[in-house]
Amino acid sequence: MGKFMIEQSGPLHGEVEISGAKNAVLPIMAATILAEDHYEINDAPQLRDVDVMCRLLRKMGAEVNEDYSCGTITIQMKKIIEGEVPYDLVKRMRASFFVLGPLLAKTGRARIALPGGCTIGDRPVELHLKGLRILGAQVTDDHGYIEAVADKLQGGKVYLDFPSVGATENIMMAATLAEGVTVIENAAQEPEIVDLASFLNKMGARIKGAGTDTIKIEGVTSLHGCRHAVIPDRIETGTFMVAAAITRGDILIRNVVSDHVKPVIAKLMECGVVIEDTEEGMRVRGDVNPLIATDIKTLPYPGFPTDMQAQFMALQTTVQGPSVAIENVFENRFMHVGELNRMGANIKIDGKSAMIPGGKHLSGAEVICTDLRGGAAVVLAALVASERTEVSEIYHVDRGYERFVEKLSSLGANISRIED
Ligand code: EPZ
Repeated sequence: MGKFMIEQSGPLHGEVEISGAKNAVLPIMAATILAEDHYEINDAPQLRDVDVMCRLLRKMGAEVNEDYSCGTITIQMKKIIEGEVPYDLVKRMRASFFVLGPLLAKTGRARIALPGGCTIGDRPVELHLKGLRILGAQVTDDHGYIEAVADKLQGGKVYLDFPSVGATENIMMAATLAEGVTVIENAAQEPEIVDLASFLNKMGARIKGAGTDTIKIEGVTSLHGCRHAVIPDRIETGTFMVAAAITRGDILIRNVVSDHVKPVIAKLMECGVVIEDTEEGMRVRGDVNPLIATDIKTLPYPGFPTDMQAQFMALQTTVQGPSVAIENVFENRFMHVGELNRMGANIKIDGKSAMIPGGKHLSGAEVICTDLRGGAAVVLAALVASERTEVSEIYHVDRGYERFVEKLSSLGANISRIED
């Protein structure tokens, strides 16, 4: 259980390279269950969550080799020997639940621990189960486990009451081997859904419409291995964009898909941040204009990402003028507010809204990472806080940011990791 020690850092300068997307590589790894064959996944980030997914696949009988010197994970999927995913794996990483659809489609049976809640919400899964039932599965809830059984899934029409990313992914993966055509309506449109669909189509699936609210999957009888490079992580991209803004720095971010971060670009430019797409990458400058307040409200893609709410709030505490952050996606995603207030942010919460006074000179304090993105937020705040900030519970950050300390240090941040 380590800590980050962070001293006030001047404006960040230099270049940083974005890693592969955590929320793309995890469902893609789960999709390898669908065919006993060889896979090569490139641009895979070295993250705790990816390690957990590797362990999960090995437990099922796969051979998994990780070579992070070149960002490659190779998987030799074999006949599944273990169709159960225990709670101790699911509680470590909710994305373990994404193996439900592929496991059911491939073997006709899956027993997965229900993911409990986490700090950002109780994280229900009824939309996942609704979709699998429409495809013909018998789904029961047995002492904290989901049991799903189906001799052969049948295509069907699924309307998602909420455009759930995970439900869209679980149902899409299951539908690839169903008999007939499946249509998912009100589907999630995140870029990670598009990347998963691209991977599945390389495996021989027949998916159209990924990235829109209607996805059509024509079932096939079998799939095969493939090679795929994961898209860049748009949330890591946004996090470093905010790092440049909050420190009033000037950085070049490489390996960026600008289209995937349009809402973050728009909101930062409203604050006065100068953002330029160049041949080498995205140049982000917080040192051109005095930065002013702007409000955010989180929405499913292509709205402002909930995964950027905490990081952007750290910036909002430092710019001139009051602003509001409205969290519409999760019911409890303001856990980081208490930690920012320990640093002097003076944020008030009222239901789904957080009122940020702004114009604060934050002061260093002992704070914790309440969750993955809340942890990133307190690190960003600590970069501009006076005196030292000690950040504990940093395993949350290690779940989703590859070489976070090294990347920030290379930009001039005064940050170090102290192992207990
Ligand atoms: C994915 O989680 C991401 N995780 C999350 O990123 C991200 O915040 C979230 O999508 C929204 O974009 C991965 O991809 C591994 P949802 P997921 O199902 O699939 C409700 C990060 O920081 N809901 O789209 O679990 C749910 O309660 C993580 O990288 C239901 O009500 O999110 C929530 O309020 C955090 N019933 C909302 O939908 C269901 O059956 C969005 O959840 C499913 C979801």
